[in-house]
Amino acid sequence: MNIMSELPAEEIRIIEFGEEDAKEISELFRQVWPLATEYPEHWRKKRMYTPEQIIEDMRSGNHYFGSRLQGSIVGLYKAIITEKGLYGEHQTVRPECRTSGLASAMYLQFAEYGIKHGCQRNYCNILVGQEVGERLMKKFGFVPWGAPFEQTEEMMVQMYERPLVKQFDATPKDL
Ligand SMILES: CC(C)(COP(=O)(O)OP(=O)(O)OC[C@H]1O[C@@H](n2cnc3c(N)ncnc32)[C@H](O)[C@@H]1OP(=O)(O)O)[C@@H](O)C(=O)NCCC(=O)NCCS
Repeated sequence: MNIMSELPAEEIRIIEFGEEDAKEISELFRQVWPLATEYPEHWRKKRMYTPEQIIEDMRSGNHYFGSRLQGSIVGLYKAIITEKGLYGEHQTVRPECRTSGLASAMYLQFAEYGIKHGCQRNYCNILVGQEVGERLMKKFGFVPWGAPFEQTEEMMVQMYERPLVKQFDATPKDL
C-alpha cells in the first residue's frame, strides 16, 4: 500500500532543502537510483551523489526542492536557472510514495518557481520511451524541444519545454 495519503497534487507541500539536508538527500538517491533500471548502470551510479557533491551543487546555483512526510524526505528534484529558463532534473521519489501525485506536485511548483523568477520556460530531459516521464510531460503541457539526443553513452533523451511567460501574461494578478 502507498503510504502517501490521497492528497491532490496541489495540496502536497514542496519546500526547498538546504545544505543541512544533504546527507538525507544522498541517502534517498542511494535508495532509489540502483532500482531505476531503465537507465544505464553508469548513469545510475552517477546519480547517487554523495552529501559533499550535493552541497557543492547547491553552492553552484542548484536548488533542491521536494517534500517531507512524517519528517522524512520522500521525494525531490533539482533545478537551476539558466539563460534559457528553469532547468529541472534528477527527480526522485521514494518507491513507497509513488503514484500519489508527488512528482506532479513538484511539476506544479517547478512552474510556479519559474514564473516567480521571470524564467521563459521550464525544461528538462526525459528518457526516450519512459512511460511515466512522457506521461508527466503530456499532463503538464510540455512539448518536445529539438530532436532526441544521446545525453550520455547509450542513453537517448528528449528535451521538453513548457513556455511560462506567454500563457500567464493574461492573468498576472493570479500569480
Ligand atoms: C518518475 C517518478 C519521479 C514519478 O514519481 P510519482 O510521484 O510516482 O509520480 P506521480 O504520482 O505524480 O505520477 C504521475 C503520473 O504518472 C503515472 N505513473 C506513475 N508511475 C508510473 C509508471 N511507473 N508507469 C506509468 N505511469 C506511471 C501516475 O499514475 C500519474 O498519472 P496521472 O497523473 O494520470 O494520475 C518516480 O517514478 C521515480 O522516482 N522514478 C525513479 C527515478 C526516475 O526515473 N526519475 C525520472 C527522472 S527524469
